[in-house]
Amino acid sequence: MDDGAAPPLVLVHCGWPADAELACRALGALGCACRVVGGADELQALLGGGPTDLMLADASAGLGPLGTLLAALDAHPEAGDLPLVLLADAADAPLLAGVLARSLHATLLTKPVTQAQFEAAVRAGLRYRAGRREVRRLLAELEGRVAERTAALAEANAALWAEIAARAALSRQLATAQEDERRRIARDLHDQTGQLLAGLALAVRAVADAGPLPAPAAERLADVRRVADELGRQVHELAVRLRPTALDDLGLEAALGQLAAEWSARAGVPVDFQAAGLEAGRLPTEVETVLYRVVQEALTNVAKHARAQSVSVVISRHGGSATAVIEDDGVGSDPIVLDHRGGRLGLVGMRERVSLVGGQLDIETELGRGTAIIARVPLAEGERGDGRG
Ligand SMILES: Nc1ncnc2c1ncn2[C@@H]1O[C@H](COP(=O)(O)OP(=O)(O)OP(=O)(O)O)[C@@H](O)[C@H]1O
Ligand SMILES: [Mg+2]
Repeated sequence: MDDGAAPPLVLVHCGWPADAELACRALGALGCACRVVGGADELQALLGGGPTDLMLADASAGLGPLGTLLAALDAHPEAGDLPLVLLADAADAPLLAGVLARSLHATLLTKPVTQAQFEAAVRAGLRYRAGRREVRRLLAELEGRVAERTAALAEANAALWAEIAARAALSRQLATAQEDERRRIARDLHDQTGQLLAGLALAVRAVADAGPLPAPAAERLADVRRVADELGRQVHELAVRLRPTALDDLGLEAALGQLAAEWSARAGVPVDFQAAGLEAGRLPTEVETVLYRVVQEALTNVAKHARAQSVSVVISRHGGSATAVIEDDGVGSDPIVLDHRGGRLGLVGMRERVSLVGGQLDIETELGRGTAIIARVPLAEGERGDGRG
């Protein structure tokens, strides 16, 4: 028991001071320090906390000390952990069941008690106490480690989320910057290049109107005029494709109607275009742009891959989200895996655009059964257009 550490502390609770003295001497011989408990209050206070290792109680002096002990153990259920060595007269043993039941490690010694019995009981109690201490220390250590690890994980998690948020913000910024740039180039094309070409066409017409030209010159002039007209048309188309002014000026429904009509004329495939729920007000610019670009790329794909007889484009605002569905009756495809391999960017780009505004892209396709692209974007309260915002 002597390993250089403080000696184990034993509370001694006896009816008679002489018994307490005797007990302390025997405990001292075992290397223990003793604290003799004077009365009920002191016992309560000592059981409530402190470095006690074992309690030795002598119940043979009648029921007084026993009652005090019971009350103290009831007030401090955690002291049930404290090993108890109970000395009693054999005749009183049946009365001690209550005390014994409140202790997790109690040894009852009925008098007369031999030195060996006493020693064995005290040593067993102290071993139990040391074991409990070790378990508690290990538990605390474990809890500490778990807490440390949890904190480290939480920190790593927070950093990861912050990075994801930063990347999403950056991607959004890039998408916005790209649209702004397209808008600027589209305007420049329309307002500057377009005007110059219109001026050129007028000048050519003025030359033609100025008087009869020699036949070869008149022919060349007619060629120039055709080229100028064609250039004007192409510049206009390019500007619209870059950023249709209708999308900014008139809104998604008008811009998509225009896109569908022009695509249909170019591709020679009829488009059934429907819009629902958009009359209540404009969608956020970002959402309009995303849905417009999705429809644009989906129609390009139909022209490139589908060999469709007809296409339907439905755009709607309903139940807190805005949805675009582009469906064709073409050749369909095996399940389409979206990744950057193979350099196919259309659907991957679509999905990225949609997810940047918190939405989801679904592709339904089957060989011989056509393809449907469904883009759904959630709307904030004020953007739902159902009078609730
Ligand atoms: N409407 C469709 N009908 C049939 N197959 C389709 C349709 N849309 C897409 N696909 C298939 O999905 C593939 C991926 O489409 P995606 O738009 O990502 O790439 P792409 O059109 O081939 O090339 P990119 O768009 O990069 O110029 C296509 O190559 C095609 O096989
Ligand atoms: Mg494509």
